[in-house]
Amino acid sequence: MAKNRLRLGVNIDHVATVRNARGGALPDPVRAARLAIAAGADGITAHLREDRRHIRDADMARLAAELTKPLNFEMAATDEMVGLAERLKPHAACLVPEKREERTTEGGLDVVGQEAALRPQIARLKAAGCRVSLFIEADEAPIAMAAKLGAPVVELHTGSWCHALADGEQRKAAAEFERLATGAAYAASLGIEVHAGHGLDFDSARTLAAIEPFVEFNIGHFLIGEAIFVGLEQAIATMRRAMDEGRGLA
Ligand code: PXP
Repeated sequence: MAKNRLRLGVNIDHVATVRNARGGALPDPVRAARLAIAAGADGITAHLREDRRHIRDADMARLAAELTKPLNFEMAATDEMVGLAERLKPHAACLVPEKREERTTEGGLDVVGQEAALRPQIARLKAAGCRVSLFIEADEAPIAMAAKLGAPVVELHTGSWCHALADGEQRKAAAEFERLATGAAYAASLGIEVHAGHGLDFDSARTLAAIEPFVEFNIGHFLIGEAIFVGLEQAIATMRRAMDEGRGLA
């Protein structure tokens, strides 16, 4: 059977982080999004956080209006964010947990504990035409709940695996990899489209690409950091190649 090429979603949040460090308009995250698409990104991801620490409302509006590839709007499952998605109608809405004090998204969404609160938000997003994705841990209970909630997509949190790899904890990394592979297969068996993200770099993306049920990776911090040294175009081209190699297509 022909292997499917993985989609690469580029998260441009940290272009806005650099802009906001100085105030003003530069560097422009929408320019980065356009460049990323020209360099081979299949979509753009941006996370409008409650505290607006990187992406701001005006960025999201411009991204929704100007992009030629799908926009994945990452958001907390709050009335404010769902209301914005209803207005902007991005291609996809990815619900993530959000704590004001965290440095980045830590852990997956507690879909089991928040079933009642999530159900109406998911219904609103679907009614607005958004493809709803839930950012969850690769465990049986949250994946089964995602199916029960009618989510067409899950994004499995790769943070624990990537941290174990970075810290040289080989046994933990092997166990986390197994958890991702098992979770991806389980989600796919329930008819859910499976994405992955958080902390991926060239090596981890290449390794994870071998797991067939994954159809999309969303990658931000590493790519924007790499772009400082080699430029966004080359960073994305190298990531594209790593994912194709891992999938056995290059
Ligand atoms: N996917 C989701 C749901 C995220 O919350 C994040 C971080 O904002 C990413 C992907 C990208 O993670 P990273 O910036 O570590 O590549």
